[in-house]
Amino acid sequence: MIYLDNAATSFLKPPSVARAVYDSFGQVGNAARGINQMSLAAERIVYGTRQIVAEMFQSSPKQVAFSSGSTESLNLLIQGFVDPQDHVITTVMEHNSVLRPLYRIGCDIDYIGLMPDGTLDKANRDQLIKHNTTCLIITHAANLTGVINDLSDWGEWCERHGIEFFVDASQSAGVLPIRMADMKISALAFTGHKGLFGSQGTGGLIVKQGLDIRPLKVGGSGIATFDKEHPGQMPTRLEAGTLNIHGLAGLKAGLEFILATGIDRIHAKELQLRTRFLEGLDDLPVILYGVGPPSVGIVALNVEGEDSALIGGYLSDEGILIRTGGHCAPLHHEAFGTVEQGMLRFSFSYFNTEQEIDKAIGALRNIII
Ligand code: ALA
Repeated sequence: MIYLDNAATSFLKPPSVARAVYDSFGQVGNAARGINQMSLAAERIVYGTRQIVAEMFQSSPKQVAFSSGSTESLNLLIQGFVDPQDHVITTVMEHNSVLRPLYRIGCDIDYIGLMPDGTLDKANRDQLIKHNTTCLIITHAANLTGVINDLSDWGEWCERHGIEFFVDASQSAGVLPIRMADMKISALAFTGHKGLFGSQGTGGLIVKQGLDIRPLKVGGSGIATFDKEHPGQMPTRLEAGTLNIHGLAGLKAGLEFILATGIDRIHAKELQLRTRFLEGLDDLPVILYGVGPPSVGIVALNVEGEDSALIGGYLSDEGILIRTGGHCAPLHHEAFGTVEQGMLRFSFSYFNTEQEIDKAIGALRNIII
């Protein structure tokens, strides 16, 4: 079996991740719930994970709130910040975890569209700003094509227009450097189970100091028990109830692996595999989407006239596992005109090998020719 669906969830993880999750059973109680030694052991894992997240994304540990993943973080951020009378700017690259919370609020939305090469069309972006524009919400790397958006440029643009800058780092955390302060990011949503090599059900929202996000959940916090209101200080403000401490133990190990290995090295390896894959496609009759601009380790394509799910099914029969269909990115497919056909998305990881890439190309060749 060759797993090339790492944009959906990374499959191979550093062995230290599973070991840390396993070891945490029998080691921890409930974090921030009293002062017994098992509770303190749990708190050490939670705080240690906050510290390393803050180090990776250039924030401070108390601004890191943990969640079950990007979807929860984006819901928390969007429903906790945007009001129905607001105007929000986002892009056609976004995932439904950005779009659907916005639709639910019913605010006014404008979308940055696509250029033919698959990058965002920035030409008329200044004209989108209105008196009630409150924020830009943008993905760092598109989950469909992998195309990277330049966060420094967008951060400066947001600052110039006095609006908040919200980033979905689902496909980039652990693969691309993200410096919240330097890039002027107001809030960053990340998931643990993709590039950070953690388990599913982990992730978080990092919020710049002074930006208030209304909590979606309130409840147990371990502090200020006798107050009727949930505590207002970060990160407790955005964390009600027991955290996924076993998951966080694994996430911490994933982050330690990335820092020890080097983000640049991880991205370079993904790009090396991607280049080899693209070279292998050279003489095949495929349509490629957004492969020119800077990207993470993703290639999206179609076989002319063929339904993506059909080809994906044949590949799966050959042991090549990828994602097909709509990828929860409806506007991105609309922009490419692939709503009916969908796309085949191959997504590579630091742990994939050149031999696997060659076998995937071989399987695709056999199906097409
Ligand atoms: N959002 C994930 C993907 O792109 C699941 O496949």
